[in-house]
Amino acid sequence: MRSAVGSAVGSAVGSTVESSGRSTLVDGIGLLFTADPFREEIEDAALVMEDGVVRWIGRSATAPAADARIDAEGRAVIPGFVDSHAHLVFAGDRTAEFAARMAGERYSAGGIATTVAATREASVPELVATTAALVTEMTAQGTTTFEIKSGYGLTVDSERRSLEIASQFTPETTYLGAHVVPPGTSADDYVRTVTGPMLDACAPHAKWVDVFCERGAFDEDQSREILGAGIKSGLHARIHANQLGEGPGVRIACDLGAASADHCTHLSDDDVTALASSGVVATLLPGAEFSTRSPYPDARRLLDAGATVALATDCNPGSSFTTSMPFCVALAVREMRMTPAEAVRAATRGGAQALRRRDVGTLRVGAKADLVMLDAPSYVHLAYRPGVPLVSQVWRAGRRVV
Ligand code: NIG
Ligand code: FE
Repeated sequence: MRSAVGSAVGSAVGSTVESSGRSTLVDGIGLLFTADPFREEIEDAALVMEDGVVRWIGRSATAPAADARIDAEGRAVIPGFVDSHAHLVFAGDRTAEFAARMAGERYSAGGIATTVAATREASVPELVATTAALVTEMTAQGTTTFEIKSGYGLTVDSERRSLEIASQFTPETTYLGAHVVPPGTSADDYVRTVTGPMLDACAPHAKWVDVFCERGAFDEDQSREILGAGIKSGLHARIHANQLGEGPGVRIACDLGAASADHCTHLSDDDVTALASSGVVATLLPGAEFSTRSPYPDARRLLDAGATVALATDCNPGSSFTTSMPFCVALAVREMRMTPAEAVRAATRGGAQALRRRDVGTLRVGAKADLVMLDAPSYVHLAYRPGVPLVSQVWRAGRRVV
């Protein structure tokens, strides 16, 4: 950046970082939603990025000069979305299962086996191509950080293979060998595999360990054993909890200090209190309720209790085949009693908290320059104009990717 960094918010919200490369000023931002509690919304805003990070944020009128300039012409800018829950490595098709559900059938965890069979059959290049296509969709819709789980292989080799593929796309990789017990195996044998040879093979390629704690998948004891083994191997815990009914998932997350309890659709009062007092992020996945025609989680109840809420897509071929964070924001506002600001905060800063990332999810000096320009004057339009492709430009680490 050519001129001194300093005025307004720039000097107040973070340290000045040494500059070396070309700087870009984005000015004429009608409304900047930073997701930073220090100053969440700035009208007539500008932002300077350089070397992949944000150098300055403030009002357009006081913006410093930079090597390049982009005029937002009154459009809104928000942080890149952080999708903290996605199952992207899979093969096969479950269109018929979705259609049957829309004709009245209930969702059950059993459909996972269909995807497992197809994923085992698929070659690595096929799986890489499908994953890449989904990542491209995510990026086009403003997602700049995302998690990818294994969980559709369920053998030592195919789980490891899924995580190797996931690692090509993101550092946020999650070992979900404990998705369901594969057909033809006893639960006890499978838990031994998941906590033994499969964990050994997968841990080098994973940052997180997850378990589907639900009737029909893994019970309380099994879930504690699986997460405990993962933690011992240096992984950090997250959990699929309380999706299809009340259960022990949230309690386990709070006991083990998991980063996040995901789904949280059926919560007791004790679960809500535990989430609010533990620092475990409640990650809500409204695409799953939409696609399984189920009641939505009550985000208002969690927010009013003081819990940290994240929104994520849960992109998977069974219960939520969407890559769209804008769609999840719109659902959260309309169906889960979140305000537009709460929903966008949950889809950015909340997702970053669910992944324990401090460098993404907010726009402040020193943060990664991950930002989304909307073809709209306000982030509110993400809910106000549902289904409309409003994402016009996306930068990841200061590089234009859309
Ligand atoms: O998060 N709940 C478990 N896993 C996925 C569904 C997987 C599937 O149906 O294929 C979920 O909703
Ligand atoms: Fe999931």
